[in-house]
Amino acid sequence: MSELIHVPVMPVQVIELLAPPGPGLVIDATVGEGGHSALFLEHSPHLQLVGLDADAVMLERAAMRLAPFSGRFSLRHVWFDRYFSAYPETERPRVVLFDLGISMFHYQQAGRGFSFREQEQLDMRLDPESGRSAADIVNQYGERELADLLFQLGEERYSRRIAAAIVRRRREAPIASAHDLAEVVFTSVPVAYRHGRIHPATRTFQALRIEVNGELQRLRRALEAALDVLDVGGRLGVISFHSLEDRIVKQLFRERKNRSIDAGHAPMNSSEMHWSERKGNGEQFSLVTRRPLVADDEECRSNPAARSAKFRVIEKVREVS
Ligand SMILES: C[S@@+](CC[C@H](N)C(=O)[O-])C[C@H]1O[C@@H](n2cnc3c(N)ncnc32)[C@H](O)[C@@H]1O
Repeated sequence: MSELIHVPVMPVQVIELLAPPGPGLVIDATVGEGGHSALFLEHSPHLQLVGLDADAVMLERAAMRLAPFSGRFSLRHVWFDRYFSAYPETERPRVVLFDLGISMFHYQQAGRGFSFREQEQLDMRLDPESGRSAADIVNQYGERELADLLFQLGEERYSRRIAAAIVRRRREAPIASAHDLAEVVFTSVPVAYRHGRIHPATRTFQALRIEVNGELQRLRRALEAALDVLDVGGRLGVISFHSLEDRIVKQLFRERKNRSIDAGHAPMNSSEMHWSERKGNGEQFSLVTRRPLVADDEECRSNPAARSAKFRVIEKVREVS
C-alpha cells in the first residue's frame, strides 16, 4: 500500500473544541486516512472510536494509520447517513466529527477520475460498487439537466455553454476520461476564464462529484440523525469545503438551536468555547462556534487544502422528549 498522504485540516481547533475531557465514544463519520481519528486517540487515552467511510479503500488506509491504537477503535464500511439513521452502537456518541468531501488519496491515487489532470476513467464514486458514475451522468443527462446541475452544484456561471459543449462532443463519442471532460470544458469557456485563479473545470468536477455521491442529501440526513443520537453534553463538529455544504450546516445548527427558544426559552450566551456546564435557559442545543472557524495562514501555506475549510461545532445541552 502506498504511503499515507492526507494531512488532517485544522488539527488544533478540532482537538481543542471536540476532544472531551473524560472517556466516551467518538464517531469519526469520515475517517478517510485516519488523520483526525489518530489525533483523538493520541490526545485522550480513555476514548473509544468508530470510524466510518463509504470507500473501502480508505478503511484499509485508516486501519494502517490507526494500528498503534488497536483495541480502541473499529471501522465500518457505510454511508454516514445510513449509519446514523439506524444507529447500531449501544453507547451514544460523546463526539461526532464530519470532515466532508474527499481525501488527497482520491485526487492523487484512487484512479477514479476525481482530478481533471488525469487520463483516468470518469467514475467519481466513493463506493464503486453502487450507483451511477460521472461518465453515466455526462453521457446520459439532457443538456438542460446538465446545465442546471453545473449551475446549482458547481455554482458555474458558464453552465449553459459547458453543457452545450458536452452534448456536442458526446455525439461524436462518449466522454470516458476525466482529462477528456476537462478539455471539453476548457475549450467551451471564454479565454479569460481559462486562465483564472482556478482551473475552469474545477466547478464542473465539483458538481459531478456532489451529484454522483448524493453529497448534499446525505449530509442533511446524517446531521439530523446524528444530532438525535448525540449524547447529552456531547458535541458535533463539521468541517466543510464549499458554500453549499456550509449553508446546510449553518441552517441546520441554527434551526436546532432555535427550536427550543421558540418553545419559550430565552437564548443563552454561548460565546464560551470550552466544554462547559450549559444547563441554563432550557435550550437543547447551543452553538459552540457562532461563526465558522477557519485555518490560520501558516496552516494554509503548509496545507493548501485547508484554505477553504470552515469548522462549526454544536453542543447538545439537554435531552428534550
Ligand atoms: C476529507 S476526507 C477525511 C479525511 C480524514 N479526516 C483524515 O484526517 O484522514 C473525507 C472522507 O469521507 C468519506 N466520505 C465522504 N462522504 C461520505 C459519506 N456520505 N459517507 C461515508 N463516508 C464519506 C470519503 O470517502 C473520504 O475518505
